[in-house]
Amino acid sequence: MKYPGILNHDIARVGIEESRKLNLIVGGMVTDAIKTSLGPRGMEKIFIDILGEDTITKHGGAFFRKIDVHHPVAKAIIEGVNTVDTHVGDGTISAAILIGKLLQKSQELLKMGISPTIISKGYEKSLEFALDILDKIKKEESITNKKIMYQLASSCSAGKLMTSLVSEEISITNLIVEAVCSVTNFQKKEIDVDDIKIEEKTGNANNIQLIRGTIIDKTIDNSAMPRSIENAKILLLNEPLEIMRTKTDDQIEINSPEQMALFLNQETLDICSKIKKIVNSGANVVISRKGINSIAQEYLAKEGIISIRRVKINDLLWLEKSTGAKTCKNLEDIYKDELGFAKKVYEKNVGGDKMVFIEGCSNPKSVTILLRCNSKRYLDEFHRDTLNIIYVLRNFIENSFIVRGGGSTEAIIANKIIDLISTVEGREQIVIEKFAEALEEIPITLARNVGMDPIDTLTQLRSKYANSPKDILKWYGIDSDKRKVSEIFPYDVIETLVVKQQIIKTAVEVTNIIIRVDDIFMKDIIDNTHCHIDGTVHAHHDGGKAHNHFEQEGLEQRQMHHYY
Ligand SMILES: Nc1ncnc2c1ncn2[C@@H]1O[C@H](COP(=O)(O)OP(=O)(O)OP(=O)(O)O)[C@@H](O)[C@H]1O
Ligand SMILES: [Mg+2]
Repeated sequence: MKYPGILNHDIARVGIEESRKLNLIVGGMVTDAIKTSLGPRGMEKIFIDILGEDTITKHGGAFFRKIDVHHPVAKAIIEGVNTVDTHVGDGTISAAILIGKLLQKSQELLKMGISPTIISKGYEKSLEFALDILDKIKKEESITNKKIMYQLASSCSAGKLMTSLVSEEISITNLIVEAVCSVTNFQKKEIDVDDIKIEEKTGNANNIQLIRGTIIDKTIDNSAMPRSIENAKILLLNEPLEIMRTKTDDQIEINSPEQMALFLNQETLDICSKIKKIVNSGANVVISRKGINSIAQEYLAKEGIISIRRVKINDLLWLEKSTGAKTCKNLEDIYKDELGFAKKVYEKNVGGDKMVFIEGCSNPKSVTILLRCNSKRYLDEFHRDTLNIIYVLRNFIENSFIVRGGGSTEAIIANKIIDLISTVEGREQIVIEKFAEALEEIPITLARNVGMDPIDTLTQLRSKYANSPKDILKWYGIDSDKRKVSEIFPYDVIETLVVKQQIIKTAVEVTNIIIRVDDIFMKDIIDNTHCHIDGTVHAHHDGGKAHNHFEQEGLEQRQMHHYY
């Protein structure tokens, strides 16, 4: 007699031993893929998506968002890296490397017979120690110190595509520091990174610009309007300057040509009276989210007023912050303080498209960075590089503590944590030791990526720390220019404390989640998910392809896919 099995026929069980081994191997594989990108001499990665479009990037966050993984462990790592990216916007490769190394060390510990529960407790204790050490070695700096900001920006952008393609005279880092300072409220230690508008246009990378105002990807409405206006008084509108179509079914009966003329005339008069109000308010630039019809445009042009219609809602918000204008509530009553100011409003040809520049705002609370580069795909990377720097500066403004880079912070923690091992009892001691070794992977990877020997680096680093006096804090790390282990000074490489904290916290959290998993049960994956003409998506349970109706519609069934 045949008994029914416990698991359904399409569920496979991987098994405890096998799953653990597999999980840890997968972790190592994912992080191996990105580790050559760490640091100022890190390599770029190319990712080609299903449409054949390629992405060139050196950012861990972007790379991990692009690659598509199947294995749940790889997914957990990627989610961890994404957490670092969304919280602090930097340190994603470091986090991935640390997760990979902690998983590798866990495998060694499991082989030694240490249980996953003890490993995860040991890692939690190590995290506590590491955060304590970071607290002791951090240094506070003034958030108004532009030199520190500049140094932070250059440390995080070292080796990134943007810094290598833009000539040094442009000083892209200075430009971004200026942008960030403009929109920061230093008293409240507040900054909203969205106040910096980033526009991208193809062209010469050396023409990257910071505009103390807003750029709108639109043209001036009418050729009769001036192309440029100095000392602009800007009116922002959220109501149409055109005849509105009624949505009701009401009918107007017109019986004679005179009545028709009267009707049309009345509509024109309405627009005319609105324009009179605009002229009387003193505004010479009108920017509207809604439409402005040709009659209104003609009247505005006659008065020497520039108009730009149908701008995006976000553009209005940026314009409010940059020019100091407030979107007009009622055209019948335009208040003086609703008007914004800019030294110049003009139309310019940028990369083959016309754009309107609203420039020279006094004390703008929103600015625009215009990124330029010859190729679209490099522009995307420029955008990521810019955001990377902006996030690092935001981290510093919100939490003004810094540590030094070049792997020195990780090396110090690894070194100091060993002294604390004796305060812990039991097998956790061995786990903490392994945690210290995992942290050393950051300076080692930096060294490997600049062409140094990893084993020599490790021994030199350890001996430098062993021979340095205990009461004086020395920051030994990797000097990427001279390719040697040496002391890192604040004018070399600095980083924000929050990034370092986030990297270590996330790495421990993700590793602990993964090592707690001890078995995998897997259903057969049906990967012919498809989309019907009505937009519904489904997969057939048996994996069959009974889809004649697709052929009739001339649509082809597609494999499971993702959009980017
Ligand atoms: N000039 C330098 N010399 C030595 N190390 C440096 C230098 N500049 C930066 N670093 C180090 O490089 C590491 C950062 O590299 P990178 O920015 O490529 O990776 P990440 O910050 O971990 O990831 P991502 O920036 O992609 O999110 C830090 O450890 C930093 O201390
Ligand atoms: Mg970085």
